[in-house]
Amino acid sequence: MRRLLVTGGAGFIGSNFVHHVIDRTDDHVTVLDKLTYAGNRASLDGLPEDRFTFVHGDITDAPLVDQLFSEVDTVIHYAAESHNDNSLDDPSPFLDTNIVGTYTLLEAARRHERRFHHISTDEVYGDLALEDPARFTELTPYNPSSPYSSTKAGSDLLVRAWVRSFGVRATISNCSNNYGPYQHVEKFIPRQITNVIRGIRPKLYGKGENVRDWIHADDHSSAVLTILERGVIGETYLIGADGEKSNKDVVELILGLMGERTDAYDHVTDRAGHDLRYAIDSTKLRTELGWTPAFRDFESGLAATVDWYRANEDWWAPAKDHTEAFYASKGQ
Ligand code: NAD
Ligand code: TYD
Repeated sequence: MRRLLVTGGAGFIGSNFVHHVIDRTDDHVTVLDKLTYAGNRASLDGLPEDRFTFVHGDITDAPLVDQLFSEVDTVIHYAAESHNDNSLDDPSPFLDTNIVGTYTLLEAARRHERRFHHISTDEVYGDLALEDPARFTELTPYNPSSPYSSTKAGSDLLVRAWVRSFGVRATISNCSNNYGPYQHVEKFIPRQITNVIRGIRPKLYGKGENVRDWIHADDHSSAVLTILERGVIGETYLIGADGEKSNKDVVELILGLMGERTDAYDHVTDRAGHDLRYAIDSTKLRTELGWTPAFRDFESGLAATVDWYRANEDWWAPAKDHTEAFYASKGQ
């Protein structure tokens, strides 16, 4: 039995990982989460009390982080400010949490000699052209576009430096866009699903031609468990499930699955600096660590996600109105 500390475990992907680990291992999990607007304690309801502890706190709080690191063997770091649109509006919390927060955790990992896994994004690599067979690999140069992706890139580089300079036993994973239950309604797929439920037309930025490489959050979690169990210290692993789709295709699929006309959406003001296309080549993770995704059919994963949002309005409704008001203020 390991003792895991999961930062950001009340967020979308972190909470999925906590449920995944509790279901599949004997590990004890402590979550450290600040419960920002993006964190939701209800996403962790129902976990067994003897195997799960929740700590409400900030990853930049060095004494608290120090105390928690002394009580665990392994740390999986999900906590972040995670939304590109917010980072364009106010980059400041992105610097604090993504850079200073990661630094605070790395210093504790160094002092306590703890195994550390850093969760990151493929957005650190910038974007690819639309009509280009190229995909990101572990060797692609960093070229982030937004305040969000540049702070994630900075955090990755801190991890690499703490491995090399101080011998911290860390690994990094960079994953593509996730979808599934418990994702905040500010993000693309839940925003459109909950818009349709509320009778609002889905909103596509610009022409809707931008491409994202979708992976179910459960597959992200199984990949992270695989890296914790078999990953090589100091290595980076890209996580992706060959799920490239244009935003327009995703909106049309959502409308079709929800029984609406597939052209019943609006084009709205594009995002500043909007990355064109992300695509992951996950050969290293598959061949060296033997990982494969379980969700191979995006449409059925999306249908299950639509069902979840239909059945869990209590979970998302409190955030919906002010999220839409924020978008409306920007013409989006
Ligand atoms: P999220 O915004 O849903 O959750 C972030 C969580 O971190 C929230 O619970 C929030 O309360 C917590 N948090 C924020 N600041 C904190 C702080 N200072 N101290 C403690 N807790 C804090 O994000 P997500 O989509 O679940 O993303 C989780 C991680 O995965 C992030 O590191 C993100 O960069 C990475 N990632 C996300 C995606 C994606 O598609 N969403 C893809 C690849 C990688
Ligand atoms: P998002 O979920 O914000 O993830 P990311 O910026 O990390 O890729 O957006 C996914 C894609 O959807 C991105 O190309 C922006 C686009 N988008 C829309 O077209 N409409 C929307 O309402 C939102 C929120 C995003």
